[in-house]
Amino acid sequence: MPIINRAADLQDEITVWRRDLHENPELLYDVHRTAAVVAEKLKAFGCDEVVPGIGKTGVVGVIRGRKHGSGRVIGLRADMDALPMEEMTGLPYASKVKGKMHACGHDGHTAMLLGAAKYLSETRNFDGTAVVVFQPAEEGGAGGKAMVDDGLVTRWGLQEVYGMHNAPGLPVGTFASRPGPLLAASDFFDIVVEGKGSHAAEPHKGVDTLVVTANILLALQTIVARNLDPLKSGVVTVGIMKGGNASNVIPQLAELHGTVRTLLPEVRDLLEQRVGEVARGIAASYGAEARVSYMRNYPVTRNHERETAFAMKVAKDVAGEGRVIETPPIMGGEDFAFMLEACPGNMIFIGNGDTAACHHPAYDFNDAAIPHGVSYWARLVETAMPA
Ligand code: NI
Repeated sequence: MPIINRAADLQDEITVWRRDLHENPELLYDVHRTAAVVAEKLKAFGCDEVVPGIGKTGVVGVIRGRKHGSGRVIGLRADMDALPMEEMTGLPYASKVKGKMHACGHDGHTAMLLGAAKYLSETRNFDGTAVVVFQPAEEGGAGGKAMVDDGLVTRWGLQEVYGMHNAPGLPVGTFASRPGPLLAASDFFDIVVEGKGSHAAEPHKGVDTLVVTANILLALQTIVARNLDPLKSGVVTVGIMKGGNASNVIPQLAELHGTVRTLLPEVRDLLEQRVGEVARGIAASYGAEARVSYMRNYPVTRNHERETAFAMKVAKDVAGEGRVIETPPIMGGEDFAFMLEACPGNMIFIGNGDTAACHHPAYDFNDAAIPHGVSYWARLVETAMPA
């Protein structure tokens, strides 16, 4: 059974919502406008309960089916936040907020789940309760954890929870997922390097902090290459390197900030240990000091077997047998991981077509994916809890 007719009918309306969200990106927990738009629409659709302020600025909507004898409760989750980057799409509905951009498609995720909420509120063709979950702060702020800590699973009695993320490069109308680890554990590290500042013309009187820092940057790249079993996966990336203000000064301080991605606990332990050892060891060899702090952020997004088999079956019903693929794990991180630790469930990717990658300044969510995503959500609820 392909796309639901009503989902196709709603595409234009949902596209308008999506582009409005795109024009008004908000960061982390500061998603006040977005959360207000979501709550207002859920109320207008006739959701039985609309509760804002869960996990600071998250919103929960409850839709009871025509029947609720089954006692089943299923959660569907979308993320609402944008990224601190400058948009370069040149689109008519490009971000109106300088330095903020929906570059990961969370505008599309929110709009599709709103569309599903509208459909489910209209039809109620299921036996049980659908809980739509709109979370803040997916991009590094652990908003999913904040919602779980705020009682998301226990308060509404979620028995299963499902997430969806768009995937550039995957054709529109296709889905991808896998049982077990889907996305990596995502950690962060900060390294402050302290040498000895001096005049640029008298390097022998100082310890050149930038030379030390550059060597640490390069040596960090030997960890995955030389310390990690080649059959296991890991990523060490430095995304920020900062130091110096004048071309004729050797600065006292410099900084490196980066991320570590892993799929296995023992690899996570190893990379954490080696980032510290390498940074401190290289710095010491030059007579400098490296102060390293390492933050474990998101755990591995681990899909549950039964729920994943179910989600992929639903996706096949919507997209067709050959258009749902089992993907290898991806080293990106996702804070839906916290919800999957608290409740059985699945995260699935939905094709975004041939677009720029997520987190790229030319990225845009593909509105052509909307009827596929809405149909998946609707069909998931109707199949899991048949009326
Ligand atoms: Ni994302």
